[in-house]
Amino acid sequence: MTAPKALLIKNGKIVNEGTILEGDIYIENDIIMEVAPLISAKSAHVKVIDAEGNYILPGVIDDQVHFREPGLTHKANIESESRAAIAGGITSFIEMPNTNPQTTTIEKLEEKFAIAASTSYANYSFMLGGTNDNLEEIRKVDPKSVAGLKLFLGSSTGNMLVDDPEVLEKIFSSTNMVISVHCEDEGTINRNLETYKAQYGDAIPMAYHPIIRSEEACYLSSSKAIELAKKTGARLHVFHLSTAKETALFSNKIPLKDKKITAEVCVHHLWFSDEDYDKKGSLIKWNPAVKTAKDREGLWKALLDDRIDVIATDHAPHTWDEKNNVYTKAPSGGPLVQHALVALLEAHHQGRITIPKLVEKMCHNPAILFQVAKRGFIKEGYYADLVIVDLNNPWTVKKENILYKCGWSPFEGSTFKSRVTHTILNGHVAYEQNKFSPEKAAKRLTFNR
Ligand code: DOR
Repeated sequence: MTAPKALLIKNGKIVNEGTILEGDIYIENDIIMEVAPLISAKSAHVKVIDAEGNYILPGVIDDQVHFREPGLTHKANIESESRAAIAGGITSFIEMPNTNPQTTTIEKLEEKFAIAASTSYANYSFMLGGTNDNLEEIRKVDPKSVAGLKLFLGSSTGNMLVDDPEVLEKIFSSTNMVISVHCEDEGTINRNLETYKAQYGDAIPMAYHPIIRSEEACYLSSSKAIELAKKTGARLHVFHLSTAKETALFSNKIPLKDKKITAEVCVHHLWFSDEDYDKKGSLIKWNPAVKTAKDREGLWKALLDDRIDVIATDHAPHTWDEKNNVYTKAPSGGPLVQHALVALLEAHHQGRITIPKLVEKMCHNPAILFQVAKRGFIKEGYYADLVIVDLNNPWTVKKENILYKCGWSPFEGSTFKSRVTHTILNGHVAYEQNKFSPEKAAKRLTFNR
């Protein structure tokens, strides 16, 4: 019998389920075998990593990314962006269907799984995209092997708007999968856009983006989706809340595992505000738009009081040339996976969030919400997906250290106090002190459903 591949991580502050344990983690092959204050190496074959008193977190699970493959690979691909994710401490991602072709059939979904199986650096799953006419495909999905269903209830990159109310009701009534929705009311947006186009033509100032893709557009669409979920009993997850007003639609009275309606907030909506458009322009143009500082405060409040359940990135790269365009031609979205965790750790340094709460929102809750099997926690018997972060090791985001294929970041010029020193994926040291392992250890996510 060959000896198992063994790894011992020593001297960490291990963050899990609201506690911080000073201790060690012992891993055999891809599984956490023991978490304890002091573990000694059982043989000379055990590889030892000294965490040097730094925090050890469960690998981050990002429930919303756009990696652009197939078809939009001039912007990004699964290999390039999952590599950036690993450097940022994200060990698992759920990728969206607005690729080319769109991921609206099981065949197209499996093609993506096949690409990820040979190129991804991080654990992966994908969402099937709902359309006005693919109900049969939705019904055929095996919920144990696919993350869920994504519906665009407002158009964004890729024209995947689902706007037929009868179809929506049928979809909501006929699947047990988590239905993740992009909520922005199309009619409201189009009316606002026409108003400002009449005034400015295509060169609308970027600061009008949150006025065009307005609070009302978000609220109207989110409320309608929630109403339909209540009527049909569907399991609804509202992606990227961007307004304080929408947060009143969600509850903190029930534990996450029992919630039928959940909410996500993204890093950019917690970080930027409309005061940043003058400086950052289209680099912070997202759908839904980054809104006011008051909205940002409201989102933080709802995150901390558990009306918002998870933090994600909505990583959505476009090329620099595409972004540097007039308002109507600059696409919405920006890359974030490499910087999301360190940005949230910066918010921790500012006193906004504790490390256990951050772990709850970025690691535990995405696992609970999507019923991801054996990930998201540092527990014996779970996969060894771990991140070691040094909270006092500042670095500045610069072109030379950006790993996204598009080569830019909305955080360029920002200095973060914290740094990911190691990322362990399925017991394999995937990233260590700025170096990637050439060996890929990613697995397809599975779901306890
Ligand atoms: O800003 C965005 N960009 N929001 C989305 O929902 C889609 C994304 C993209 O794919 O570019």
